[in-house]
Amino acid sequence: MDGAARRWAEVLDLLVEVVPPGPAGVIVDSFDGHSRVVADRLAAALRAGGRSCARLPSTGTPGPVSAGMAGLRRAQRLAQAGPGAGPRLAPTPLLQQALVVADGPQWRAQAPDGGWTVVIWLRTQPPAAGADRSAGAHVVIDLHDPGWPVIRHVDAALTGRDRWYLAESRAFFAARAATWDSRFGDDQPAYAAAVAESGLPAGATVVDVGCGTGRALPALRAAVGPTGTVVGLDVTPQMLAVAGPNGAAATAGLVLADARRLPFAAAGIDAIFAAGLIMHLPDTIAGLRELARVTRPGGRLVLFHPSGRAALAARHGRALRPDEPLAEGPLRISAVRAGWQVVHYDDPPDRFLAIAVRTGGE
Ligand SMILES: C[S@@+](CC[C@H](N)C(=O)[O-])C[C@H]1O[C@@H](n2cnc3c(N)ncnc32)[C@H](O)[C@@H]1O
Repeated sequence: MDGAARRWAEVLDLLVEVVPPGPAGVIVDSFDGHSRVVADRLAAALRAGGRSCARLPSTGTPGPVSAGMAGLRRAQRLAQAGPGAGPRLAPTPLLQQALVVADGPQWRAQAPDGGWTVVIWLRTQPPAAGADRSAGAHVVIDLHDPGWPVIRHVDAALTGRDRWYLAESRAFFAARAATWDSRFGDDQPAYAAAVAESGLPAGATVVDVGCGTGRALPALRAAVGPTGTVVGLDVTPQMLAVAGPNGAAATAGLVLADARRLPFAAAGIDAIFAAGLIMHLPDTIAGLRELARVTRPGGRLVLFHPSGRAALAARHGRALRPDEPLAEGPLRISAVRAGWQVVHYDDPPDRFLAIAVRTGGE
């Protein structure tokens, strides 16, 4: 099996696992036609796993809603008849009978009684205009590269995070490591400005958590000087492999580890720098708590991104939601619960910068 086939197999394995046993309705949705292919593959994987599954016909885009309803009824009859039929079952709502897999916005809009059990959103190139349908999805798959699907979110109610998070996060960033600096290299001055603004004292011990290719490490070294200590930590080996030859390793130590379980003693670090990390952690408060655990009281947390939240959301074709972890209100609340006090919050289009001080925890 080649790399892409293995990746698809891993993703489908996980999807099969998150579809609950018994009657269920699964809808796959996306901006483009990929939802049809993914729904076909999922239905095949479910059947291969021994689940009896009706694949509702794709209505295509656009297509009459009534054609979709006819498909639903056909699937209902099919599911009620069952394999080998036996005595005919009395008509009952679809989801009391069957496992169905459908795709596309038209099916999504015609949820069966009780709603779709699993809504899978495929993140692909957004159209120039169009409604963002990612909200409410139980599973989000990044499919910008159809040969390399990566699961980016699974509702906690469907499966434990440890089942999918680490492997999928690494798969996502590993595929991007080699071109990261050529795509985003122009941001370097923004990192230097954010570090300068963060007021890190000379001689401090600072860890760049989720350091990626090490873009912030030279600026962090410049801030803490030769007597300070700079560590870059990341969970993706391919990112750290790029960081080394870049020269980042010359100014900092590099550590392969998970931000959710940092290999540091409690209260030993003066400052944490984290650029583009928090939104990738599956549990914001738990993540902030672990960062707090290793930071001394009075120490700093610097959260940065070289684009503002609105600009980043627009680039990804999604609407900005007020309940996102890095929105000012939610971040201030999570920070307090995790042992931080936000003392600076700045979110213009060209950068995101929030600074928090370690308060000593709960
Ligand atoms: C958006 S990139 C940002 C990289 C770098 N900070 C930058 O600004 O260029 C997010 C990075 O966080 C890393 N990451 C994601 N989850 C992580 C985790 N649980 N622990 C450590 N690193 C993680 C990824 O491997 C990736 O390198």
